[in-house]
Amino acid sequence: MRTQKIMAINHTPVLCEKVVDFLKPKSDGVYIDGTVGLGGHSTAILKASAPNGQVIGIDLDTDALTVAKDRLKPFGERSALINGNFAEMNVLLENRAVHAVDGILLDLGVSSLQLDTPHRGFSFNHTAPLDMRMNTGHENATPVETTPTARQVVNDSTVDVLVNIFKRYGEERFAKRIAHRIVAAREREPITTTTQLADIVTRSVPKGRSKIHPATRVFQALRIYVNAELENLMAGLDVAVTLLNSNGCLCVISFHSLEDRIVKRHFQTLARTCICPPKTPICICEHSPSVEILTKRPVLPDATEAHHNPRSRSAKLRVARKL
Ligand SMILES: C[S@@+](CC[C@H](N)C(=O)[O-])C[C@H]1O[C@@H](n2cnc3c(N)ncnc32)[C@H](O)[C@@H]1O
Repeated sequence: MRTQKIMAINHTPVLCEKVVDFLKPKSDGVYIDGTVGLGGHSTAILKASAPNGQVIGIDLDTDALTVAKDRLKPFGERSALINGNFAEMNVLLENRAVHAVDGILLDLGVSSLQLDTPHRGFSFNHTAPLDMRMNTGHENATPVETTPTARQVVNDSTVDVLVNIFKRYGEERFAKRIAHRIVAAREREPITTTTQLADIVTRSVPKGRSKIHPATRVFQALRIYVNAELENLMAGLDVAVTLLNSNGCLCVISFHSLEDRIVKRHFQTLARTCICPPKTPICICEHSPSVEILTKRPVLPDATEAHHNPRSRSAKLRVARKL
């Protein structure tokens, strides 16, 4: 836990100033940090909403919540933490009699704590059991027993399922080849560790074609699949907009094109003034938009942030304001 404390102190939240600029936290406001992680963004929102603003932090990962609890201690009752899935934030909040909030942040993907803790199995840089589950706890999150581990997915899925996972969630060109090699390898012995899998992938793809590690896309794909990340994102965006007070902002930071595409399209649909079929000559839908998009293009980290925090380099922030 001491290492985790140090990690929290050194951890720099991505695009934090921009998020605070958009949320404009008020002292009588209530904010949801749907991916509280190590509490970096929550700290900034609590500081900006002093003396009375509140942050409700949600995370699937109980290890992250332990770190966040420690980091947010100075804010006392102004912060509350919930172990759960942001896709169900309406239910989680209802249990606490909160029905509307003034701003919501989703900072998607894995935390540095998850990536840097070898036994969680998110990284091919350390030999560890193939796990990759974010929900380590039981409280309000999907029960950990019902989330498959990456080991189960890799050892029990058919070739076709593996190909589909690697293509769909990793946009992996060599998905077929990798899936066949995995199936051949697991016939000899089960694939149980991160490095075992990374080696199989490395041996499956042509050498020297890319700057990134050959297993990067397969690991991303498995992580997204295991944690149902895209399904949670779609559900979370819907729920978030219904919870916002008028003028409240929904800020979403994504780290790869699959997530960013979902956020962009979802915001566009919510912001549309007309949802009539394309060839309808006159609008008959009487639809009214529920949000205004505040970021016509995604906000990216500037050169200084990208330099100091390499993990921020692929980040994209999109923001919608509830009408
Ligand atoms: C990039 S980190 C967030 C870092 C955080 N903003 C900070 O400043 O420390 C993403 C976090 O979201 C959590 N997470 C991912 N999907 C989630 C979901 N559907 N519901 C709740 N938490 C989720 C992960 O467990 C991880 O801790």
